[in-house]
Amino acid sequence: MNTIEYENYTSTSVSYNETRRPIGLPIILEHLAATPTALGEQTVLDAGCGTGNYLAELHGRIGTLHGVEFNAGMAQVARDRFAEDPKVNIQQGSATELPFADGLFDGILCTQVLHHLDDGSTADFPNVARFFREAFRVLRPGGVLIINSSGHDQHRDGFWWAALVPKAIDRMLTRMPSTELLEENFRQTGFVDYEVVVPFDEVLQGKQYLDPEGPLKPAWRAGDSSWSLATEEELAHALDEVKSRLDDGTMARFINDREKRRAELGQTTFLIARKP
Ligand SMILES: C[S@@+](CC[C@H](N)C(=O)[O-])C[C@H]1O[C@@H](n2cnc3c(N)ncnc32)[C@H](O)[C@@H]1O
Repeated sequence: MNTIEYENYTSTSVSYNETRRPIGLPIILEHLAATPTALGEQTVLDAGCGTGNYLAELHGRIGTLHGVEFNAGMAQVARDRFAEDPKVNIQQGSATELPFADGLFDGILCTQVLHHLDDGSTADFPNVARFFREAFRVLRPGGVLIINSSGHDQHRDGFWWAALVPKAIDRMLTRMPSTELLEENFRQTGFVDYEVVVPFDEVLQGKQYLDPEGPLKPAWRAGDSSWSLATEEELAHALDEVKSRLDDGTMARFINDREKRRAELGQTTFLIARKP
């Protein structure tokens, strides 16, 4: 199967909704609204929908919603959430082999998923390319693909805690397609009207993001898969640094300094384009 599960999403699924917030809703809705079909009549797919946090925001505004999710635990949480509504369908499957007929969707959303598809051993990210081809195939003419991912500089410096586990961040960056590579994929697949939007004020972890004790809590760390790429030794070192900064009163200053970089870079980028 075209994915590499380096984070245990089956256990993460239990706490995921407490540590992650959907972001960029105005950006998503604006671009869906710009497609030929009215929002209430649209069919929209969330590829790699996780526990359905974005589907929950779109629910009631979009005609029919589909989610495809690789991990059984995450998919089950999403399924339970919409069990009462036949207009929301969740399937377990892969974003690289979408189980849908050609030309079905007005919009496809794919948030924080693409760094899970390839192991970075080759520069061309073949599974990311597969996803782009599949997204193009199942979109209607005029349909929009909306991706949210982090640029490499954002991943390094758009999260205050990333400086605690620099080697894990380096490992993640080898798996994370750059925004340049994503732009190239949009172009090569045939998408047009490419646009980039950075939601500077929004953070993936919502209110919990600035919790100075966050890194000490496994559920908080499960909110970002970079932590799962730290070795035991690197994690122990990071936790020691947090404890020592909390003890000697330097944590607030550390976070403040790191947050100045996030203000300049943002945490994530929306990359958006249309099927002609
Ligand atoms: C960081 S979570 C993002 C979930 C959701 N999109 C969100 O933003 O809240 C990454 C998700 O991608 C899923 N995933 C990984 N590989 C996938 C694939 N090949 N197809 C579909 N989902 C995949 C993971 O199981 C996980 O639920």
